[in-house]
Amino acid sequence: MLKLGNLSRQFGGVRALDDVTLTIPPGQIYGLIGPNGAGKTTVFNLVTGLFPPSGGTLEYDGRSLLGLPPERIALRGIARTFQNIRLFQEMTLIDNVIVGMHAHLPYNFLDLLLRTTRFREIERKARTRALQLLHRVGLGPLCEELAGNLSYGNQRKLEIARALASNPRLLLLDEPVAGMNATEKNEIMSLIRSLKQDRLTVFMIEHDMRFVMGLCDTVAVLNFGRIIAEGKPAAIQANPSVIEAYLGQEEPA
Ligand SMILES: Nc1ncnc2c1ncn2[C@@H]1O[C@H](COP(=O)(O)OP(=O)(O)O)[C@@H](O)[C@H]1O
Ligand SMILES: [Mg+2]
Repeated sequence: MLKLGNLSRQFGGVRALDDVTLTIPPGQIYGLIGPNGAGKTTVFNLVTGLFPPSGGTLEYDGRSLLGLPPERIALRGIARTFQNIRLFQEMTLIDNVIVGMHAHLPYNFLDLLLRTTRFREIERKARTRALQLLHRVGLGPLCEELAGNLSYGNQRKLEIARALASNPRLLLLDEPVAGMNATEKNEIMSLIRSLKQDRLTVFMIEHDMRFVMGLCDTVAVLNFGRIIAEGKPAAIQANPSVIEAYLGQEEPA
């Protein structure tokens, strides 16, 4: 579904990614792990077109993503959440989700300007769907709250609802359970499993090993911008170079 071929990215003198080759098969929950600063978020930033690679290829559904702006990549069916939450704090939950849909709604500027019947009908449907998505992530009862009033864990759930609003086929999650308590982590685990059942492909960066190992079909390990291992969770956990990469980390990952 997604293919990274010899992908590299430099920031000044720093080689954040160095010749990364990965294939994310359709229908999988695919995990990307690695120490802080390894280049994980940079992978997502390249895939979503936030900045271009210094070299290499990027293919989605057999077609290149290179040179496409983020909106076009989103329209091709790729959505993401951010490691640093990006929500509209002063807007309600439901409006935050509707924002995630906007580029995909079939009205034009004139509809919007004149508030045509067509426009109001599309908006009504958008609200209904936004509410469904909020229920799906467990935030239905809070739909009219302001995003800024949510707990940290709930803000992460809202980010997922908003990403789902664009109806993606590939969902990129950057540390979806960071800062969550055990109950919330279990909720997100069931949610991600249900997304897989709906045939979504999930590409996920996460530090919580229990979470990654319990959920992912395949795990790749990035260290200093290079892939040092890829395989099934059990094999990754037993891999000596992976264990070594994690030694000397301040916190156990
Ligand atoms: N926009 C940027 N400008 C400059 N350096 C960056 C930028 N994004 C990432 N880096 C650098 O690239 C490296 C990898 O960062 P990142 O992908 O965020 O790591 P991870 O998500 O694995 O913690 C780090 O050294 C980081 O400082
Ligand atoms: Mg990161």
